[in-house]
Amino acid sequence: MKRSIGNATRYTYLFRNKSVAVLLTAVLFTMALLPHAGTAMADKANFSLYVDKSGNITLPDDFQLSMIHLGSWFVPEGEASGFHNVYTEPETARAYLKTGKFPDGATLVKELRSSAASNYTTGKNVSHATSDVKQWFVMIKDTKGRFANNPVWGDGWGWALIKTDSSSRSVTADYRTECLPCHMPAKNTDWIYVEGYPMLSKPDR
Ligand code: HEC
Repeated sequence: MKRSIGNATRYTYLFRNKSVAVLLTAVLFTMALLPHAGTAMADKANFSLYVDKSGNITLPDDFQLSMIHLGSWFVPEGEASGFHNVYTEPETARAYLKTGKFPDGATLVKELRSSAASNYTTGKNVSHATSDVKQWFVMIKDTKGRFANNPVWGDGWGWALIKTDSSSRSVTADYRTECLPCHMPAKNTDWIYVEGYPMLSKPDR
């Protein structure tokens, strides 16, 4: 009695294993075929949290909490006066420290904030940022030329200007005329003014 139960069990296992093997082969075969059909599409759709599949760039709304502060500029006068605070993902900074390059999908956010100055215990005429945001600039690194015919993508980046009154969508129409001329001096450092971000260079000690 015991024996026959044993045999029956063994038979079932064998049978099960066979069907599992057949099923596995079928699944693996399908998995091998599927990605090829959808690679380009999936690559665009899953590329960045801040880019849709058509290449539209939005402001990362949580950047002050999810990103790190790379550095700040202070512009003393003019339309852009105030603090320009620049942020990126921690993993982008880590990758840059290793390779000296911005990795695919890297996000840079520059926030323009008005400033106020006053006398403090540290000195006279000390400036600080205020709660008034002027606008944001966003750049997304694209090493694969995903959006070849899109006029806000090129030279290795997606380029966006987001105004405070335009929700979080970009108002940039053509980076070649709206961004590139001003970023020419930084062409040799992948269009980024890296001298403002000393944390991206290895400490010389
Ligand atoms: C008037 C010239 C000017 C224009 C126009 C301009 N930029 Fe910049 N941008 C700069 C300068 C200079 C810096 C660094 C110093 C600063 O912010 O004052 C900078 C910094 C940045 C940064 C921070 C990273 C870096 O490069 O250091 C981002 C992001 C950025 N710009 C995106 C853009 C985008 C996107 C556009 C077009 C929509 C644009 N900029 C248009 C001059 C400009």
